[in-house]
Amino acid sequence: MLKIAVVPGDGIGPEVVREGLKVLAAVAGPTGLKYETTEFDWGGERYLKTGEVRPENGLEILREFDAIFLGAVGHPEVPVGLVERKLLLEVRFGLDQYVNLRPIKLYPGVWTPIKDKGPEEIDFVVVRENTEDMYVGTGGFAHYGTPDEVATQVAVYTRKGTERIIRYAFELARARNKDKKLTVVDKSNVLTYGHDLWQRTFREVGEEYPDIQQDRAYVDAACMWMVKNPEWFDVIVTTNMFGDIITDLGAMIQGGMGVAASGNINPEGTSMFEPIHGSAPKYTGQNKVAPIACIAAMQMLLEHAGATEAAARVESAIVSVLGSGKIPDLSAGKCPPTSEIGDMIAGEV
Ligand code: IPM
Ligand code: MN
Repeated sequence: MLKIAVVPGDGIGPEVVREGLKVLAAVAGPTGLKYETTEFDWGGERYLKTGEVRPENGLEILREFDAIFLGAVGHPEVPVGLVERKLLLEVRFGLDQYVNLRPIKLYPGVWTPIKDKGPEEIDFVVVRENTEDMYVGTGGFAHYGTPDEVATQVAVYTRKGTERIIRYAFELARARNKDKKLTVVDKSNVLTYGHDLWQRTFREVGEEYPDIQQDRAYVDAACMWMVKNPEWFDVIVTTNMFGDIITDLGAMIQGGMGVAASGNINPEGTSMFEPIHGSAPKYTGQNKVAPIACIAAMQMLLEHAGATEAAARVESAIVSVLGSGKIPDLSAGKCPPTSEIGDMIAGEV
């Protein structure tokens, strides 16, 4: 029995999650998958009503599940960063979901802004470190609000944290068995302490993987190559902050925020799957956004849970619907209604 915690969250979260669950229900029958879902009303609305985003013991509650399915976070009436921290960052850190896995894959039939590149060229995975870097929230103010103000925000990198994410990425490059290539993306020419640790760890761990071709790119150059020669990438491993930034670029080249999914993975614990996109408040409740990213997140959840056949069916259904030409434009307001896209994919699994 696969036990899934469902956190629809804010904005368009609930409407895209509904479609993810629709597809889950549709694929469970033919594959004999047994699952149960428990829904939590955590997020901005709950904060406005009760003063808390989630219960204090939220992480203990989540730990009891096999996986978490998250919609979107961010609410315009809640102080910036609060929902993000309570629902996203504290879950990633607290459950030690140290891998943020973000496939960048262009499916046939999907428009990409990159001229002359297609599904053959755009197919790689970003392994984003998910528990360190500037995200740890270390820093502070001095002389707050005065002309002498000083603000610091410290980027934290540990040997353990760096090593485990790099090792995960090498293993993934091996398992993908595509180009067997791993590119480390950093800024070691400027961040000469933190990213020196990254470089040294990459070289050391790399010695254990002679079958994997090793490559390096500074993050600014990597942005350039992602646009100019996306086919150079197979697996990218990078820091938390750079991973955040380059995967929005990645989402664009794979067809937009409507298709980009991610998994926050603790290989030994409870993992959380979510679309990369945010809560898009201006579209809330209008049935106007493409739920494919969320459905693809469900696919990743199934794959991670070992429901391989169900995951494969969801992916084929996504591919078939996108390839059918029924969704010529995936952008919000221009795509078919959210619920209809969900129906199409559920109908194909
Ligand atoms: C993401 C988001 C989050 C992040 C925000 C909402 C905290 O942008 O998942 O990419 O920066 O990690
Ligand atoms: Mn982001």
